[in-house]
Amino acid sequence: MHHKLSRILAASVLGSALLSGATTASADATGAMVSNPCAGCHGIEGASQGQAPVIAGLSQMYLASTMKAYRDGQRYATIMDRIAKGYTDAQIDAMSGHFANIGWPTNNQTVDADQAAKGQKLHTSSGCAGCHGATGVSMMPNAPRLAGQYAGFLEQQMHDYKDAAKAIPPGAMVMRSMLAAMSDEDIAALAAFYASQK
Ligand code: HEC
Ligand code: HEC
Repeated sequence: MHHKLSRILAASVLGSALLSGATTASADATGAMVSNPCAGCHGIEGASQGQAPVIAGLSQMYLASTMKAYRDGQRYATIMDRIAKGYTDAQIDAMSGHFANIGWPTNNQTVDADQAAKGQKLHTSSGCAGCHGATGVSMMPNAPRLAGQYAGFLEQQMHDYKDAAKAIPPGAMVMRSMLAAMSDEDIAALAAFYASQK
């Protein structure tokens, strides 16, 4: 009896392993397909050349929650709100899996060394490192990588987080109060520091 039950269990575990293998393969195909239009701004496979943020290598959780926040009016955007409205939850989950499976691309930005050094001090003294790591490689799946992201984009996001008139997700509220005391120069320095990291 026990023997029989364990064979049934083993068979069903094997069955579901095969099934989830099949699901993953078709999810990848869907993910690649729905991700095609993103290349126009985010570069080939999310490795942006600077006109939009890098999205390759961000976590699936962050990508999906951000797309849904844009779509549902919970995160201020200049263009992504309108783009995200074209997608269902399932399509967003598929494209998020697609980009999360690609490694973070190297990009070489020219940043001012003094500004980056000032930014590093602010990053440490203000407690940003607690969630975003010592060098901007965030330690939580709901927080994006900052290291090597484009400075102009990061600077804009920090201004948006700081501006009480703009919609931001609940997870960003902690930064609204942290950034409140920071000047434009401080914010530019933080962005330079993150951009300088590999
Ligand atoms: C027309 C240009 C354009 C297209 C097409 C586009 N994006 Fe964007 N994306 C942007 C810009 C610009 C931003 C910065 C936010 C804003 O101002 O809208 C952004 C921001 C993002 C972010 C936030 C990244 C971060 O680090 O917080 C994600 C995620 C994203 N886009 C995903 C996508 C996906 C997925 C697609 C394809 C379905 C896509 N985008 C298509 C221009 C574009
Ligand atoms: C409690 C954890 C936490 C702390 C502390 C924190 N952050 Fe964040 N950060 C997050 C999360 C979560 C997000 C994603 C928010 C969202 O969904 O929009 C984020 C997003 C960001 C982004 C947007 C990047 C992108 O790709 O869109 C920037 C820039 C940023 N943080 C900078 C900072 C700075 C500067 C500090 C210190 C003043 C800081 N953060 C402190 C958790 C944190």
